[in-house]
Amino acid sequence: MTGTWELNGLLQRRLWIVTGKGGVGKTTVAAALGLLAARQGLKVLMVETHGLTHLAELFEAEGVSYEPKAFKNGLSLARIDPEPAFQEYVLRQVKFEFLYNAVFNNKYVRHFIDAAPGLAELLTVGKIWAFVEDEARRGKKPLFDLVIVDAPSTGHSLSLLTVPQVVVDAVRVGPLKNNAQQILALIRDPQKTLTWLVTLPEEMPVNEAVEMDEKLELQAKVGVGPVLLNSLWPQILGADSLQDLKKAKVDNPMLHLYRQRAEQSAYYRDRLRERLPSRQVLDLSLVYQTKHPLRIAESLSESIRAQLTGVRP
Ligand SMILES: Nc1ncnc2c1ncn2[C@@H]1O[C@H](COP(=O)(O)OP(=O)(O)OP(=O)(O)O)[C@@H](O)[C@H]1O
Ligand SMILES: [Mg+2]
Repeated sequence: MTGTWELNGLLQRRLWIVTGKGGVGKTTVAAALGLLAARQGLKVLMVETHGLTHLAELFEAEGVSYEPKAFKNGLSLARIDPEPAFQEYVLRQVKFEFLYNAVFNNKYVRHFIDAAPGLAELLTVGKIWAFVEDEARRGKKPLFDLVIVDAPSTGHSLSLLTVPQVVVDAVRVGPLKNNAQQILALIRDPQKTLTWLVTLPEEMPVNEAVEMDEKLELQAKVGVGPVLLNSLWPQILGADSLQDLKKAKVDNPMLHLYRQRAEQSAYYRDRLRERLPSRQVLDLSLVYQTKHPLRIAESLSESIRAQLTGVRP
């Protein structure tokens, strides 16, 4: 997709996957997007994977587990762990819990999952699919309008998105192949699924974002939404004032640092746009007024909304 996104169009998707390199602000941005969608009146399920609890901590939501739990107006949270996903999947196939318990002693399930390459990812993406499609498949209204996944950092996210194709290629027939095909039908439909790539105004994160963008499109074949350039140094001083300071060679380490960072932000802001000409890049400032993670997410949420609607906060 080229050009600019419109908030309403984005909100019509069913699944948003937030990804990016480690530490770039994925969880904060996922929370910001959740707040944004919930404020537009959607029922939103936010999902963490790999047993992480970063979103739960950010929202200070207690008792988050495998089953979605509502914790705030319009917002629910769930955590996908491979073990319960495995049990749920097998029970769907064999239907008898005693049989499951007889075959899979819970103590060993984790080892079994870890030993089978891609199984944890397949179970995770399978559960994400179920969160989006389960009700519709049974002819019911979906429980959630939008599912937002705080995905793991880039390499893991890519495995999550590519493993269903591996299964489709490897398995000739049967329920596993059908499931993998259903998952692909969801994640490769850009009208239903979009990825949001988060990055920082620095050399490596920009390079990795450009690489990831290509992999998302060509390997995972998923729709890529807006790219979020996070933690830009805020423009406290305008470009002219910065130039004046430079010319005047003001010898103040704080100003020197600020100038350096602001210039670096501006430089990578341009590089990212140059290297991803077909993407809409949203600029997110470093929030320095608070250290509170939820307040930071709220501030980013407002900024994303303003950029997608053209309405200044
Ligand atoms: N725009 C911002 N302004 C200020 N602080 C920010 C901003 N974005 C993120 N942070 C802070 O940076 C830290 C890392 O952010 P976050 O946890 O969202 O990154 P992540 O990509 O999810 O990390 P991980 O890969 O470990 O999951 C957090 O302390 C968060 O509050
Ligand atoms: Mg995180």
